[in-house]
Amino acid sequence: KIQKVYGSEILDSRGNPTVSATVQLTDGSMGTAASPSGASTGKFEAVELRDGDERRYGGKGVLKAVQNINEMISPALENLHSLTVREVDKVLIKLDGSPNKAHLGANATLAVSLACARAIAAHYRMPLYRFLGGAAAHELPVPMMNILNGGAHAGNNIDIQEFMIMPTGAENFREGLRWCAEIYHTLGRQLKKKGHSTAVGDEGGFAPNLASDEEAIEEILSAVETAGYSGRVKLALDAAGSEWAENGEYRLPKRGTRFSSDELIDFWEELVRKYPIVSIEDPLGEEDFPAWTKMTERLGDRLQIVGDDLFVTNMERLQKGIEEKAGNAILVKLNQIGTLSETLDAIELAKKNGYKTIVSHRSGETEDTFIADLAVAVNAGQIKTGAPCRTERVAKYNRLLRISEC
Ligand code: PGA
Ligand code: ZN
Repeated sequence: KIQKVYGSEILDSRGNPTVSATVQLTDGSMGTAASPSGASTGKFEAVELRDGDERRYGGKGVLKAVQNINEMISPALENLHSLTVREVDKVLIKLDGSPNKAHLGANATLAVSLACARAIAAHYRMPLYRFLGGAAAHELPVPMMNILNGGAHAGNNIDIQEFMIMPTGAENFREGLRWCAEIYHTLGRQLKKKGHSTAVGDEGGFAPNLASDEEAIEEILSAVETAGYSGRVKLALDAAGSEWAENGEYRLPKRGTRFSSDELIDFWEELVRKYPIVSIEDPLGEEDFPAWTKMTERLGDRLQIVGDDLFVTNMERLQKGIEEKAGNAILVKLNQIGTLSETLDAIELAKKNGYKTIVSHRSGETEDTFIADLAVAVNAGQIKTGAPCRTERVAKYNRLLRISEC
């Protein structure tokens, strides 16, 4: 049984407050977890509760969410009879009572949900990934590693938010991770030589002041070649296209170009024709389902088309996507929906319908490595957790390395 749940306000990787929760069971088992926080958040995400008190952390404090854990969630969970994560999540969802966790805050519910999973895994003396995934958990994910940042994550002239490398030709996780780290360092040296900044963005990728998105791709391909991995490492992009949507069309904020949905699809087609791009996330806006369907029809055989802001790890939105044949993969972010069980359900729905799954961090992260275990538990196949730089990102890779040796 649960003896106690308590929350606290801690800091994320941007120095903003976030919620941590600890769950203590009557047998002494404990689990702690923290909620991450996005910057380019989708409109349809569950609500991250912030205090809005400008005198503390510029309004970003999470004392209300913490109070909800201590005063509402903890008493509601203390008398729970059957202790499973699903039962805990049911109580959280019911106690919240809103369609989007607006009442308790998804930052509060998620921290508790994940901490419960950890406490129960500790009770069974199982590694988290094994507890979550059972005997079926076996696949280490291919990293989708962000090494160059633009968009809302960097103050440069690049519109696409994330440029990622995928070591698809590597034998195993450890080897793929090494390739990526080598390419990252090669890219750093190359940028420095050309007089560019090697300062990094929120997810650890470099954020040089390059003239265009194409130049960013060229720089990465050149680093891949210099490091000796041409052909064995592919590119993935996250456009974060919802950030570009403006009055029914698209405006790339930095280059200033305007596109209709059709023109934007043409732009992607051209980019995919020119470069070894295997995956594009949020190429279009979160409200533009018809354009997603069109793009999937045109490019879906050649390309992974990933819904992040489009699906927000939400079963209903994913179901709509499946019906309308919009996209062919889902980005999985626990805090978009606010409980572990709902996240697992979304993953299951995706897999049943042939959608690929990518477990993902947020741009604001903590040292919590839950997503590494989750990716292995559900055999997600891919993980997106930033550059091999900034410990909140590297911690996830290190956890995967350790899992790979279990
Ligand atoms: P976010 O960015 O965490 O700031 O939303 C990550 C992403 O868009 O995938
Ligand atoms: Zn995204």
